[in-house]
Amino acid sequence: MSGYDAIVDRYRGVTGEAPEGLWYAPGRVNLIGEHTDYNDGFVLPFALERKAVVAAGRRVDGRLRLLSLELDEDVDLALSDLAPGQEGWSAYLAGVVWALREAGHDVGGATLVLTSDVPLGAGLSSSAAIECAVVAAYCDLYGLDIAPIDRAKLARVAENAYVGAPTGLLDQAASTLCQAEAGLFLDCRSLETEVVPLPMAEQGYEMLVLDTKTPHSHVDGEYGTRRATCEEAARLLGVPALRDVTDLDAALARLDDETMRRRVRHVVTEDERVLRALEVGRSGDLAGLAPLLTASHASMRDDYEITVPTVDLAVETALSAGALGARMTGGGFGGCIIALTHAGEADGIGRAIARSFAEAGYATPEWFTAVPAQGAGRLA
Ligand code: GLA
Repeated sequence: MSGYDAIVDRYRGVTGEAPEGLWYAPGRVNLIGEHTDYNDGFVLPFALERKAVVAAGRRVDGRLRLLSLELDEDVDLALSDLAPGQEGWSAYLAGVVWALREAGHDVGGATLVLTSDVPLGAGLSSSAAIECAVVAAYCDLYGLDIAPIDRAKLARVAENAYVGAPTGLLDQAASTLCQAEAGLFLDCRSLETEVVPLPMAEQGYEMLVLDTKTPHSHVDGEYGTRRATCEEAARLLGVPALRDVTDLDAALARLDDETMRRRVRHVVTEDERVLRALEVGRSGDLAGLAPLLTASHASMRDDYEITVPTVDLAVETALSAGALGARMTGGGFGGCIIALTHAGEADGIGRAIARSFAEAGYATPEWFTAVPAQGAGRLA
């Protein structure tokens, strides 16, 4: 259990016993396909090596004891008191137990000690990582035979119904289903998936992930507003979801509202870009991803209007410093950008962005090179 001794020690400290096991689930980067998931469209994320880990064991007293190593907090709840609307970090864990019980699974209490190195509020799915780690722990602890895609759906119920963030399935699917060295194509309507090999190192590329340090949240209004506009546009166009728009020009001609037209254009063209990225992945030559990333960013900036000045400056600087393609990743209004670079160049591009941030008076960004990692599972 090396590396996670601190959560094992904390578990022992509060229960007097060793945990029954350690389970993890990763954060993710969305390679492409932003704000398409709740429009029944397509996404293509990959999982990160950064992950949430829980040391866990069952309890027989009908209680849920939740501890966070980083926050040094300790929450003790009766299962019968779990109710949507709970606030704070512990809601992401308690919400999963609530969702399992709501779905009819006969699960009891647990002690869960959490640690995570997924940056919070950076658009890398720190919350889905926690939820999916708890789902993995509970499935093993209570012997639940739940298929991976259904595990992701349960984690999403925790996020939507318990925490109250109206998100799609992207983050939980990525955290649960992704495979090492690959992206995950997901059709958010049929739930069909395809593993898309991403042999970046082999082909001489790197993926820079840079946190602009402009924090964001999905519980606030902008995400919900975008979603509502898309649903209203689908209703006006007479289709179940924007994924069903087949003739973009004809659809745009039928909408009066200029803002709504731009939102629709983003979603429809982004779906097309994901399908093209899938083709690029299948072709095996990753160079074709670069222009899709940059076009996706322009669409998020100009049509969906979810970027902010720090994020735009990071993408512009990445491109002028030699990145092949770059875009914001995640829900928007801050968070991270990704940039596809030649091998060995990602760090220098990160430093170039840090210099441009210093000149602009922005916070100092943080960055790392991402390696596509494995989805949720048992560690020990
Ligand atoms: C957040 C949500 C996802 C998805 C993205 C935007 O990460 O949790 O469901 O909508 O934003 O693509």
